[in-house]
Amino acid sequence: MTVTTTSFWHPFANMAKLSVDGAVNIVRGEASTVYDDDGNAYLDGLGSLWYCNIGHGRAEIADAAAAQIRTLAAYQTFDRYTSPPVEALASRVAALAPFADAKIFFTTGGSESIDTAGKLVRSYWNLMGSPEKQYIISREHAYHGMNAYGTSLSGIPGNLRDFHPLVPTVGRVPWDDAEALRTEIARIGAENVAAFFCEPVIGAGGVIAPPDGYLPAVAAICREHDVLFVADEVVSAYGRLGRWFASDYYAIEPDIITTAKGLTSGYAPLGAVIVGPRVSEPFWSAGSAASFVHGYTYSGHTASCAIALANLDIIEREQLLDRVTTLVPVLEAAMLPLASHPLVGEVRAGTGLLAAVEIDSAAMAADPGLIARIVNEVRALGVLTRAARGVALQVSPPFVITEAEIARIGEAFAAGLDAAAR
Ligand SMILES: Cc1ncc(COP(=O)(O)O)c(C=O)c1O
Repeated sequence: MTVTTTSFWHPFANMAKLSVDGAVNIVRGEASTVYDDDGNAYLDGLGSLWYCNIGHGRAEIADAAAAQIRTLAAYQTFDRYTSPPVEALASRVAALAPFADAKIFFTTGGSESIDTAGKLVRSYWNLMGSPEKQYIISREHAYHGMNAYGTSLSGIPGNLRDFHPLVPTVGRVPWDDAEALRTEIARIGAENVAAFFCEPVIGAGGVIAPPDGYLPAVAAICREHDVLFVADEVVSAYGRLGRWFASDYYAIEPDIITTAKGLTSGYAPLGAVIVGPRVSEPFWSAGSAASFVHGYTYSGHTASCAIALANLDIIEREQLLDRVTTLVPVLEAAMLPLASHPLVGEVRAGTGLLAAVEIDSAAMAADPGLIARIVNEVRALGVLTRAARGVALQVSPPFVITEAEIARIGEAFAAGLDAAAR
């Protein structure tokens, strides 16, 4: 049954249309499947929104949450306060981080992680006596969330159209050209550039892996120009590429890594900014008088941290990173045949448990409602996808998805494309 929503304002939705069409009411989830209130099963090709890595319906997480909430649901962490799950999770994430001596600043999601990183790099340069280093450069197709920095750094024009003037100290470069970063730094002046923010694999912009050698090249350009390198791993951290971090996968060492989503697999909202020693040092070194004047009510939410610990336990115990590595070619094999469909422009797969089926641009231009119809057709066939950047069908399933279920995604996409073509 679709629900007619009278009060709930959906993100990114045309509420006038949705009020007529109704919402899909998801009431239950188990492993890679979610169910609506009529009992219809849907294979969750999205992992909800790139986050449900361990799959739905894990009683172990519910038990960990209940035990923690009975003991202490939450206590704030401003100034002197902490609690055992917060300490344990910070140590655990620091130990997983791709650099030594990581410090962890908790948030409640990816957008807050991005805004935290945006303010931290400025605070850092202030402390280092270079307050003019304010600019942050991002990439075309980038998605860095919806808070002030994230919106301003967006490389998806539709996401910032209504919000000018933006944070003015931002610049943008093409997604695939490392030398363009050098040119943009020169244009702004290295003495004015604080950081480069970069998703190792562009996610919401359409699942776009970097060209060979791109990430080491931009990391080197950042180092050369004394610009901090911030890897936005909100999608990729905690296993999406078969390693704990995309930074491991690509052998890069960013100064800061922003994370969220997979840290709890969505069982509670939580994000973590992982800060390397270069940036933390002036704040943490003995005798420093500096504070990072920033934080959220739920920075280090006690129960969320307990949930994250239980989530990381499951990823480790069930060896889900290896499972991702095993499933990548399976997903690629299921997706690549779609490239020959007349409505498909390009299929991208093979990097992590991620794929995108970009719809042919001429077909989209001729029929702007096409991709929404395909998404609906695929859902009617029992598989959930969405239109990333409005142009590509997104695939980012839970790590526990089976090979047979991956095959079903390919079949449903093919049938949904056929149905939309008729
Ligand atoms: C790369 C990236 N950064 C930041 C965000 C924002 O995260 P959130 O929606 O949790 O605020 C997202 C969300 O999809 C993301 O994909």
